[in-house]
Amino acid sequence: MAIKLIALVITLCVASWDTAEGRSLRFSTTPLNRYSFPPHFDFGVASSAYQYEGAVEEGGRSLSIWDNFTHEFPGGKVSDGVNQEGVQFYKNLIDELIENGIKPFVTIYHWDIPQALDDEYGSFLSPRIIDDFRNYARFCFQEFGDKISMWTTFNEPYVYSVSGYDAGNKAMGRCSKWVNSLCIAGDSGTEPYLVSHNLLLAHAAAVEEFRKCDKISQDSKIGIVLSPYWFEPYDIASNADKEAVERALAFNIGWHLSPLVFGDYPETIKASAGNRLPSFTKEQSMMVKNSFDFIGVNYYTARFVAHDLHVDISRPRFTTDQHLQYKLTNRSGDTISLESVRTL
Ligand SMILES: *[C@@H]1O[C@H](CO)[C@@H](O)[C@H](O)[C@H]1NC(C)=O
Ligand SMILES: *[C@@H]1O[C@H](CO)[C@@H](O)[C@H](O)[C@H]1NC(C)=O
Repeated sequence: MAIKLIALVITLCVASWDTAEGRSLRFSTTPLNRYSFPPHFDFGVASSAYQYEGAVEEGGRSLSIWDNFTHEFPGGKVSDGVNQEGVQFYKNLIDELIENGIKPFVTIYHWDIPQALDDEYGSFLSPRIIDDFRNYARFCFQEFGDKISMWTTFNEPYVYSVSGYDAGNKAMGRCSKWVNSLCIAGDSGTEPYLVSHNLLLAHAAAVEEFRKCDKISQDSKIGIVLSPYWFEPYDIASNADKEAVERALAFNIGWHLSPLVFGDYPETIKASAGNRLPSFTKEQSMMVKNSFDFIGVNYYTARFVAHDLHVDISRPRFTTDQHLQYKLTNRSGDTISLESVRTL
C-alpha cells in the first residue's frame, strides 16, 4: 500500500463534559501531550475562506454557493479571466504567515464552488467540473507552488456530499423532497454518490497536475482531508451490530479512501447502492489509485451503531443505504467515550 505519510490535522474541541449525562466520564486530555506524537507530526489550526475573510463584494470577488464566492476567478473558470487582486491577496497572506513562522498548508477546495459554475452545469454533479478543477489547481500550483509545500485538494468530501446532497442542510442544499421539504431539487439516492465520484476524479486530475508542475519542489506533498467518525457496536453481543460497524466504516472512510488506495469503492457500498453508485473505468481507476502523498484526518467524535431493520427501500437515500442507526449511548446505557477514541 502506498500510504507514504499519514498526517493528522487534529481539531481539538474543548468540551464541557456534563457529569450528570452518562456513566462514562473518562474524558480527560491530561494523558495527551506533544510527546504522545512523533517529532515530525504536524499540528495546526485551520481557517476557510468563507468563514474568515468577509469582504463579500470587495476586491473583485464574486459569489460562491455559500453566499449566493470566489476570489480568483470571477467567472469560475481560468479561461474566464483571473482576478489579480485575489491572487495578490493570497500571496500577501502566504508571505505574512511565513514571516511569522507559520507554515501554510493550502486547501484548494473548501466547499465554496463559484455560483457561476453551479448555474452553468451543476458544478460537481457534472463531469465538466474535472477539467475546470484541474485548470484551477494547476494555476494555484504555478502561482503559489514556490512557497507552499503542503497541499490538500478537498476538505471533508463526506460532509460536502452528504450534507449538501443527501440531507440538504448545507450548501448546495439539494435533497429529495421527502427528506426535507425545503429542498427545491435533488435526489438523495443518487446525487451524493455522483458528486463524490466527480470529486474523486477532480482530485486525481489535480494530483496529476501537481506531479508534473515544475514550480512544485521535490519534497512537496499533496493529499486530501477526510473526516471519519469512529464506530463501536450498539450491542457488543450482536453480530448484526458488529457488521453495522464495518458498514459504517466503509461508508464513512472507505467511500473516499478505498478508491485512493485500491482504485475502487468498497464492496459493501456497491452492494447497497447498486447502479445508483457510478463506477470507475479502468483508466479512471488507475488515475485515482495512489493519487495522494498523505491522508489528513479531521477527527471529531465517535458513535455507537446498530443494524437498522426498517429501511424503506422504495425511498432510497445515501443515509439509509447504510442500514444502520447512529446512537450516542449503547444498549446498556453507556455514553460513547474516550474508550472508543483510543481504539482509533
Ligand atoms: C444565487 O445566484 C444566482 C445568480 O448567480 C441567482 O440566479 C439565484 O437566484 C441566487 N439564489 C439565491 C437563493 O439567492
Ligand atoms: C456499552 O459500552 C461499555 C463501555 O464501552 C461496555 O463495557 C459494554 O459492554 C457495552 N454494552 C453493550 C450492551 O454493548
